[in-house]
Amino acid sequence: MDLDAEVCYCFHVSRRKLINFCRREKPLVPSQLSECGGAGTGCGWCIPFLKQIHRQVMQGGATELEKLSSEEYARLRAAYIRSGKGRPPPGATPLPPEDDPPATV
Ligand code: FES
Repeated sequence: MDLDAEVCYCFHVSRRKLINFCRREKPLVPSQLSECGGAGTGCGWCIPFLKQIHRQVMQGGATELEKLSSEEYARLRAAYIRSGKGRPPPGATPLPPEDDPPATV
């Protein structure tokens, strides 16, 4: 998934914005990434990835985002929402069609 891809589809926050926010603001805890455009405060899908980005910037290492394509990430989020685990706010990026092949991660 490239740097300009959205990590938070609910509030349209890219991976690049989140990384730059962490570098600039040095948040003590991942939940402070919500101050970056509201990331993580919608359906909740992206919260584990926000934690990974925070850890990567503050401590190094990798995130799952390096391995996932944007399409896989979008399909996984859609499955999360369709299973009733989160509700996107109005204005969130729409889900891909249900007939897409299932992602495997
Ligand atoms: S994708 Fe980030 S809160 Fe829904």
